[in-house]
Amino acid sequence: MKPTNSSAKIEDSNKPVRPLFPDLPPSSNAKARRFGRIRSPIWSEHKAKFIQQYLRIFVQITKHGAYVDGFAGPQNDGQVEAWSAELVLKSEPKWLRHFFLCEKSTKGLAALRRLKKSQPIPRDRNGKKLYRNIEIWPGDFNKNVAEILKGGKITQKEAAFCLLDQRMFECHWETVKKLAAYKNEPNKKIELLYFLGVGWLHRSLSGIRYTEKMDKWWGRKDWQQLKTMTHIAIADLMRDRFQKELGYRFAAAYPIYDRENGNRVMYYMIHASDHEDAPTLMVRAHHKAVRSLPKETQEVFQFAKNEETCIPESEGLLQQKF
Ligand SMILES: C[S@@+](CC[C@H](N)C(=O)[O-])C[C@H]1O[C@@H](n2cnc3c(N)ncnc32)[C@H](O)[C@@H]1O
Repeated sequence: MKPTNSSAKIEDSNKPVRPLFPDLPPSSNAKARRFGRIRSPIWSEHKAKFIQQYLRIFVQITKHGAYVDGFAGPQNDGQVEAWSAELVLKSEPKWLRHFFLCEKSTKGLAALRRLKKSQPIPRDRNGKKLYRNIEIWPGDFNKNVAEILKGGKITQKEAAFCLLDQRMFECHWETVKKLAAYKNEPNKKIELLYFLGVGWLHRSLSGIRYTEKMDKWWGRKDWQQLKTMTHIAIADLMRDRFQKELGYRFAAAYPIYDRENGNRVMYYMIHASDHEDAPTLMVRAHHKAVRSLPKETQEVFQFAKNEETCIPESEGLLQQKF
């Protein structure tokens, strides 16, 4: 489905920025941290800051770029510090030029439209206006992805990053394959950051009735094997698939924890990239937004050597050692 004219049009505005979701009540059953008026679970906040941190470094290098958010609506009503799309849009410098914000739910779309409307005209440090185009794509991202890519709005030369922040099983493996296959050699593939909800996976798998949904998510018929695998083994298998099946040069699984100093991994964010510097930059972003990684991992990257860490090896970053 193409974006509607009204939603795809740039709506640069100098009007005062309205607070996000003024009309929505705060809600979360999860353990949460207070942010004055609004609560958001620490893991959502860590994830959003991790993405924002990485993209901040990413644009410093590329000086431009496209950001595709396949599941862009806010996770929790009324969140302030934990909405990836919002943090990425406000991140400085505002050199990302093309935004494709995709969402299925009416509520999520309404939030995205408010977010778009509230954006000030992007400017550089000297006040010069910068080009930026924000498109909102309503509907199923698994269908829209082909249209977005077919439109040629992301050129082969443009650096591109795609966030696949599904709730659990919404992102079809075919969708991931389309994104990975879009760029032709020698251009580097679209970078991917993929949510893998290991913390809820076994419980979710036990409640599965419609196997077609799982076949589409996993992209193969052997997803039943996940029921007997540990979280860490599942994350490592998924990470490996990004390299072996999709052809990415680098793939790593970054843990997001239940609490500030907790060691329970709620989910992994799997990052896949062809850029040789990207893993180091991602580790740096994770360190800033979440916490230090285990020493043995840091040594691989020669990064933050003096940091103290309390993460057991088994719960740390999963990566190919290069
Ligand atoms: C986990 S939330 C995204 C959280 C968001 N990235 C954040 O930072 O708060 C997933 C979103 O995807 C939407 N969604 C679910 N299935 C979808 C689909 N097939 N296509 C597009 N959006 C979908 C949901 O309505 C929800 O808003």
